[in-house]
Amino acid sequence: MNIPTSSSSNSSSVPGASSLPRIAVLATGGTIAGAAPDAANTSGYQAGVVGVDQLLAAVPALSTVARIAPEQIASVDSKDMTMSLWTTLAQRINTLLASDDVDGVVVTHGTDTLEETAYLLHLSVKSDKPVVLTAAMRPASALSADGPLNLLNAVTVAAYVATHAAARGQGVLVAFNNRIHSARDVVKTSTYAVDAFQSPEIGALGWVQDGRVEFQRGVVRAHTLTSEFTLASLDSPDAARPQVEIVASYAGVSRLAVDALVAAGVRGIVVAGTGNGSIHQTLQQALAEAVSRGVAVVRSSRVGSGHVMRNGAAADDALGFVSAGSLNPYKARVLLMLALAAGQTAPAALQKLFDTY
Ligand code: SIN
Repeated sequence: MNIPTSSSSNSSSVPGASSLPRIAVLATGGTIAGAAPDAANTSGYQAGVVGVDQLLAAVPALSTVARIAPEQIASVDSKDMTMSLWTTLAQRINTLLASDDVDGVVVTHGTDTLEETAYLLHLSVKSDKPVVLTAAMRPASALSADGPLNLLNAVTVAAYVATHAAARGQGVLVAFNNRIHSARDVVKTSTYAVDAFQSPEIGALGWVQDGRVEFQRGVVRAHTLTSEFTLASLDSPDAARPQVEIVASYAGVSRLAVDALVAAGVRGIVVAGTGNGSIHQTLQQALAEAVSRGVAVVRSSRVGSGHVMRNGAAADDALGFVSAGSLNPYKARVLLMLALAAGQTAPAALQKLFDTY
């Protein structure tokens, strides 16, 4: 565990351009690269249509913070994120960070699935160099677009971590609306507000403003170099990847979805339970049967904060269920996929992983 001391840097102390850190900016699309028919339109736009060069050109101050190496990895609306784009992105990041010529990576991404991509990278990047994701809630064409400042801040954070040893080793970060979050904990909490990302319960790691970066706490759980996961096992044709799906528990829920998923051969099911991961008795019976057929079942909660206590709302030991702890269903799915791909299937082994990551 590396808890960085609170410290700061100021853009006024930025060294000469040739000694600035070299930061690769990998663009994947999203609203940050979105364009609408008019500047007042912040919802009826097309995501992922503005290229990385144009995004960078909108932020001349970047040249005072880092030497930027841009790459257009994809141009997607992140609701359409695929496993294959995930593996392409993660492999490209690992390749770049293995090079002495690259000091860090910033990824521009859509907000909709950013929390999933960030956690996947947190568990699969093999470097302690900075990886910082950012995004925007308003398209590049909007009045008061938030993307340019978010991009500048993300590069500022990456440059800071690259040049301050005490700030290293925190895994993948998300810089958004002046806050710095851990990829493990950050979630999208608003459909429209520019302050759309939070780390429920434990809060942000720190903040970035006007070239100054400050970390106020560290990251405790395993990630990146201390993670046992690689993407190698997911880098296979869709049919060979462990299929993990999410079902929700709610009033009057039937067992139809679970039975269909088991019949289709899924390897894992994450249940978005009520409250402390409690599950409607009808669904719980179906999930217990799924376990007896070799399907891994993880209990998480549809509530936006808190954690799921093992053997709290369900008898996990008896039913063969795993508790997701404080991971929401979408992040729990990422970890379960990686765990299954690594050959872990026993509930006790899976629980250990959920307690570690
Ligand atoms: C997306 O996730 O690609 C679209 C929405 C957004 O970035 O805010």
